[in-house]
Amino acid sequence: MSSSSSSVICSFVIILALFFNSLLLCNGGKTSIYVRKEEKTVDMPLHSDVFQAPLGYNAPQQVHITQGDHVGKAVIVSWVTQDEPGSNTVVYWSEGSKEKMKAVGKISTYKYYNYTSGFIHHCTVKNLEYNTKYYYVVGEGTSMRKFWFTTPPEVGPDVPYTFGLIGDLGQTFDSNVTLTHYEKNPMNGQTMLFVGDLSYADNHPNHDNVRWDTWGRFVERSAAYQPWIWTTGNHEIDFAPEIGETKPFKPYTHRYHVPYRASQSTAPFWYSIKRASAYIIVLSSYSAYGKYTPQNQWIEQELPKVNRTETPWLIVLMHSPWYHSYNYHYMEAETMRVMYEPLLVQYKVDVVFSGHVHAYERSERISNIAYNLVNGECSPVKDLSAPIYITIGDGGNIEGIANNMTVPQPEYSAYREASFGHAIFDIKNRTHAYYSWHRNHDGYAVQGDSTWVFNRFWHPVDESQ
Ligand SMILES: *[C@@H]1O[C@H](CO)[C@@H](O)[C@H](O)[C@H]1NC(C)=O
Ligand SMILES: *[C@@H]1O[C@H](CO)[C@@H](O)[C@H](O)[C@H]1NC(C)=O
Ligand SMILES: *[C@@H]1O[C@H](CO)[C@@H](O)[C@H](O)[C@H]1NC(C)=O
Ligand SMILES: *[C@@H]1O[C@H](CO)[C@@H](O)[C@H](O)[C@H]1NC(C)=O
Ligand SMILES: *[C@@H]1O[C@H](CO)[C@@H](O)[C@H](O)[C@H]1NC(C)=O
Ligand SMILES: [Fe+2]
Repeated sequence: MSSSSSSVICSFVIILALFFNSLLLCNGGKTSIYVRKEEKTVDMPLHSDVFQAPLGYNAPQQVHITQGDHVGKAVIVSWVTQDEPGSNTVVYWSEGSKEKMKAVGKISTYKYYNYTSGFIHHCTVKNLEYNTKYYYVVGEGTSMRKFWFTTPPEVGPDVPYTFGLIGDLGQTFDSNVTLTHYEKNPMNGQTMLFVGDLSYADNHPNHDNVRWDTWGRFVERSAAYQPWIWTTGNHEIDFAPEIGETKPFKPYTHRYHVPYRASQSTAPFWYSIKRASAYIIVLSSYSAYGKYTPQNQWIEQELPKVNRTETPWLIVLMHSPWYHSYNYHYMEAETMRVMYEPLLVQYKVDVVFSGHVHAYERSERISNIAYNLVNGECSPVKDLSAPIYITIGDGGNIEGIANNMTVPQPEYSAYREASFGHAIFDIKNRTHAYYSWHRNHDGYAVQGDSTWVFNRFWHPVDESQ
C-alpha cells in the first residue's frame, strides 16, 4: 500500500470517528425545559392528617411490610404499639380461605438521646403461596387492624411485574404529593424499591426520633399493603456523638428489618432478593466496601449466583449515585464506583437506581473502567454491557430541590430535570421493560421521561437509537 493511500484511509477513519462522536453528542443529553419553582420544602406539622395515630388503646401503628425471604414466599410484617407491648401475633389468611393462620414475632425498643421508642414488632409470615392475596390482622380487641397484600408470582423468566421507585422521600407536603402520585399512577406499582433516606428525622433537633414515628404513620397507607424494599441512605446513619449516639443506623435497624440472611449477607445493609423475573441487589454506600470487607466479599460471591435464565432482570439499588451531573454530592460515590463498576459491567446489570441527589436524571449505557493508572483512559464511554444509571432522589424532602447542574450536560447524561417525582419500572417479559418517570406537578398518568429498557442478557440491543 502506498503511503498516500494509507494517509487517505487514515483521514477517512478520523472523519468517521468525528462523525460518530458528533452523533453521540447529538443523541445524548436533554436538559428538561421544565424548571420547578424554587421554594422552601417544609415538613408537615405534627398534627397533620397523615400523622394521626389510629384510634384505640395500644392500636398498632406504622404498619409496613417487606419481602421476608429470598424468593417472595415470606413477608416481614412490622408495626409499633405505644402503650404496652401487646400482642405480637399476626393472624393471616388467603382470600377465600376460612382457615386462619398465626405467626409470632419479636418485640424490641430502643432509646435515642432523650427519646424512648414504642414497642417495635417484627413478625415473619412464611410458607405463603405465590400470586395470592392475603389478609392480615395485627393488634387485639377493639384495636385490631386489618390489611392485605398480594404475593408475587413464582420466580421465573417471563413473569411481568411492576416496581415503583422513590428516593429521599422525607415528610414534607411535597413528599405527600409524591406518594399520592405513586398511589394514583395508573401503571400500578406492585412493590416499592426505595433507594434510601426515609424520614429525615436527623434534620430536627437531636435527630428528634418522633419524626421516625410520624414517617412510619405517613407511609403506612402504601407500605402496609405492598412491600417496600429498603436501601440505607446517609439519613439512616443517625451518628451523633455530640449527644452520645455513636451506634450508626440505630433507629433504622430497629424499625426496618430486611431478609439479609436469606442471601448469606452478614449485615442488613447489603442483601438480595428475587421477585418475579427480577433479581434485586441492594448495596450500602455507607458501609465499608473496600477489598476484604464483608460487603465486598458478599458482592463478589453474589453476582456469579444470578441465573439470568431464572431471573432475566438484574437491578442494583444503592443510595449514592455513580453517574449524575448535578453540583451536589458530585463524585461522592467515586471510590465505590471504582471498586464495583467492573463487576456490574461484567455481570451485565440492567439498571442501577440511586437517590441522594434531590433531582431526577437518567444516563446512557456507559462505563468508565478502562483506566489502569498509566493508560490515561479515564472518561466514560458508551458500553452496551453497562447498566443505565437512574438518579431518583426527588421524593421531595425537607432539604429541597437540587437545581444546580454541570454545564454543559455531559455526554453520559440522557435526561435530567430538577423537580420532584417517582418512577415505575414495568417488566413485560425477559427482553423488554418499560421505564417511566412521573413529575409530581403533573396529572397522575403523565410521563415526564420514559424509555424502553432492553434486557442486557436476552436482548442486549442499544435502546437509545
Ligand atoms: C429532649 O430534649 C429536648 C431539648 O434538649 C427537649 O426540647 C425535649 O422536650 C426533650 N424530649 C423529651 C422526650 O424529654
Ligand atoms: C396528603 O395527601 C393525602 C392524599 O392526597 C391527603 O388526603 C392529605 O390531606 C394530605 N395531607 C397533607 C398534610 O398534605
Ligand atoms: C438456571 O435456571 C434455569 C431455570 O430455572 C435452570 O433450568 C438452570 O438449571 C439454572 N442454571 C444453573 C446453573 O443453576
Ligand atoms: C452551582 O455550582 C457551582 C459549582 O459548585 C458553583 O460554582 C455555582 O456558584 C453554583 N451556582 C449557583 C447559582 O448556586
Ligand atoms: C416482550 O414485550 C415486548 C413489549 O411489550 C413485545 O414487543 C415483545 O414482542 C415481547 N416478546 C415476547 C417474546 O413476547
Ligand atoms: Fe442522601
